[in-house]
This record gives sequence, C-alpha cells and structure tokens, in this order.
Amino acid sequence: MNLVVLTGAGISAESGVPTFRASDGLWCGHRIEDVATPEGYAADPALVQDFYNRRRRQLAEVRPNAAHRALADLAARWAGDFLLVTQNVDDLHDRAHADTPPAEGFELIHMHGELLKGRCTRSGAVMDWTGDMAADQASPHHPQGWMRPHIVWFGETPLEMARIERALAHCDLFVSIGTSGAVYPAAGFVDLARRAGARTVEINLEPTADARLFDEGVYGPATQAVPAFLDTLTP
Ligand code: OAD
Repeated sequence: MNLVVLTGAGISAESGVPTFRASDGLWCGHRIEDVATPEGYAADPALVQDFYNRRRRQLAEVRPNAAHRALADLAARWAGDFLLVTQNVDDLHDRAHADTPPAEGFELIHMHGELLKGRCTRSGAVMDWTGDMAADQASPHHPQGWMRPHIVWFGETPLEMARIERALAHCDLFVSIGTSGAVYPAAGFVDLARRAGARTVEINLEPTADARLFDEGVYGPATQAVPAFLDTLTP
C-alpha cells in the first residue's frame, strides 16, 4: 500500500514552534509580505535574515513530539512506498527519522525549504547552514552571489513538485496533518489523491475549511490524534 502524508505547522505546534495563521494575522510579529517574499528580501535583507536567524536559533530549543515520532515508527515498518511531504521548515521530522531509521521506500520532502539550509542567489547551490546568516553573506558558490535562507517564499515555486505529484497519482492513502489548507499547491493534494482513488484522511485540532474534501476526519491535538490513527494502519 502506498502512502502519502502531508504535514503543516500544526504537527510542530506542541513542540513549541508557532503556527502561521495566528488570529492577529501576523507571523511572529511580522507582516508575511515583509519576511516571506522575494520583494521583502530585496527591500530589507537585514530584517529578513534576522527573522530567519531567530527562527533557526529557536530550533535548538525544540524537540520532535509524539506525532513526529509516530510517523518515524510507521516509516520504519511500512512495506510500501511512503512519501512524507512537509510544509514545515523546521527539522523535527528529520530528527525523528534519524533516531528511528526508515524502511526502504521512504522519502521525506521539505516542499517549502529548510531553515538549516542556505541557497546561493546566483548559482542556486544549496548547502547546510546551522548558524546565523548575515545580510551581506557572501556565497562560496559564486563571486557575485549572496547566501539567502533556503525557504520557498510567496511567489516562488515549491520544491520537488513533480516527484510529489507522481506519488499522489499512485497513492492508496493520503493523510493531511496539522495544515489549514490555505496555501496552494499543498491545499490541492487531497484532490490529486482522490483522483487516484485513495482513501483521504484529515487530522487536525478542528475541522478545516476543506474538511468536506476528505473521506474521514480525526480531530484532536496531533500528539494524541496522530499516534492513535497510525496505530490503526496495517503496513
Ligand atoms: P497554518 O498556521 O496555516 O495552519 C496550522 C494548522 O494546524 C491549523 O489548521 C490548526 O488548526 C492546526 N493545529 C494547530 N495546533 C495543532 C495541534 N496541536 N494539533 C493538530 N493540529 C493543530 O500552517 P500551515 O497549514 O502549515 O508557507 O501553513 C502552510 C504554509 O503557509 C506554511 O508552510 C508557510 C505559510 O505561509 C511558507 O513558508 C511558504
């Protein structure tokens, strides 16, 4: 059985990573246009780098929770293909799977990029980046390049879309965890999975605006709802 799981900020919320759509409409105190668009970066690289530097530093204070670990346990025993697509830029899935190595056929894709990577503005080369990034951080990959966070900003194309769409076209089960379904193309994955004839399940604190698109909904905090649902699956 082939499985595709999509995760969003809700799966990391109980680890202490803030979600995006808080009621004040701000993202950690900033307007999204200022810190998550190419235009915002061009206008004020120091503000944007400082924003992601703070978020990168925050990763040292958080740990994978029971929902990340339950997915890692499932990946270790899953017999078919298992594609885990996360919209999250934290490394909590990576750390959970490092502790519990997955079976063959498992793959993790960060479709919106990763805080712990940087990208050269000229060559596009991507490299690991654990410390702070300066506003004028020179790129080791190109004499005229700067380093920017390896984050997909609004107006940019999410990563590995062809690979994700291929997996959705062949999946038997699609599970969407802790995402509001407000941002495309991830919000359209449930439609692609339905077209493939897959069973579709939403796991969230509460039904989302797209809840009717799913065959089933499991509602509660991710640390409880995710392990409980995954326990019902036979690999
Ligand atoms: P949102 O902040 O839009 O949605 C978070 C979802 O998690 C909501 O549906 C909440 O109900 C749910 N939630 C919160 N706490 C939860 C918990 N403890 N257990 C289960 N569910 C919980 O975040 P995303 O959907 O991930 O894009 O946002 C998608 C994209 O929008 C992000 O990747 C980011 C943002 O702009 C980029 O950075 C490109």
